[in-house]
Amino acid sequence: MLKRARRLRMDESVRTMVRETRMSQSSLIYPIFVEEGKGIIKEIEAMPGQNRYSLDTLPRALEEVVDSGVESVMFFGIPKEKDACGSQAYAENGIVQEAFRIARKEVPELYYVGDVCMCEYTSHGHCGIINGDSVDNDKTLPLLAKTAVSQVKAGADMVAPSDMMDGRVRAIRDALDEAGYIDTPIMSYAAKYASAFYGPFREAAGSDNFKGNRRTYQMDYHNRREALKEVDLDLGEGADIIMVKPAMSYLDIIREIRDRVDVPVAAYSVSGEYAMIKAAAQAGMVDEAGIVAETATSIFRAGADILITYYAKEIAAMIKEGRIG
Ligand code: PBG
Repeated sequence: MLKRARRLRMDESVRTMVRETRMSQSSLIYPIFVEEGKGIIKEIEAMPGQNRYSLDTLPRALEEVVDSGVESVMFFGIPKEKDACGSQAYAENGIVQEAFRIARKEVPELYYVGDVCMCEYTSHGHCGIINGDSVDNDKTLPLLAKTAVSQVKAGADMVAPSDMMDGRVRAIRDALDEAGYIDTPIMSYAAKYASAFYGPFREAAGSDNFKGNRRTYQMDYHNRREALKEVDLDLGEGADIIMVKPAMSYLDIIREIRDRVDVPVAAYSVSGEYAMIKAAAQAGMVDEAGIVAETATSIFRAGADILITYYAKEIAAMIKEGRIG
């Protein structure tokens, strides 16, 4: 036999040598929820192991991120007061803005990303301004732009709009430029599907009260070409990084986009993906570390350059140990 595929699998050294997918801690982003109050480290019921923090407990949590080797975090803010126009999203002293200020001061070594959206801040829980019974795209744009600028002013290194309004990348780019932040990148949630996998997040962010669904703005999961359209639009509007979300059931979309564009592609392994693995592991049905290693690797293998995940710290540890990557 001339060809024996098993030759390159015979021991750990050669297997590692010929690995096709290489991962690094610097490609991971860890999402963190910050809420108003004091002394809060409150576990999110639907996401065991993940917490909401208040501003005073946040720095310790960030130190843990640094210790794990993860270099970047993404903040979600949960305000006490929500209103119809989500005014706490762009309040100068809003919860997420204060989180950026404290984080930058206390733990300056991390790279800080801000999720830009209205749904954590609106009383109705939708990602934009409501007009009649629909979300008003064009009225929402200036508020998203204001939100992005307020986050960057407070210390965000990058903004990531997740609202799925048309034209928001351009609105944000223009506003950032006008405010002098020409070098602040935009990571756009470009192909964001209307997904049941966001369920646990909505408990985490307190945005599970909304009526109806998000299908008039998030994408229909039957569609693949439409993801390319969204990516083209966002790149045309100035997006620097393109995101696919969720990750696990959308590996085909990640690959398709990776093959078509020359900007970095991010994938968000969302709350429901985390919750499913956690629940199965807690029930003793699967080996958690094994599943996390394999799913994370599959997302990079599909073509993602960046992975946003609640398992970021654990994945970083596995990369360090050489188990994956
Ligand atoms: C919206 C937003 C959502 C997530 C990130 N940003 C939820 C939604 O669109 O309903 C989901 C993240 C997750 O499920 O982990 N601001």
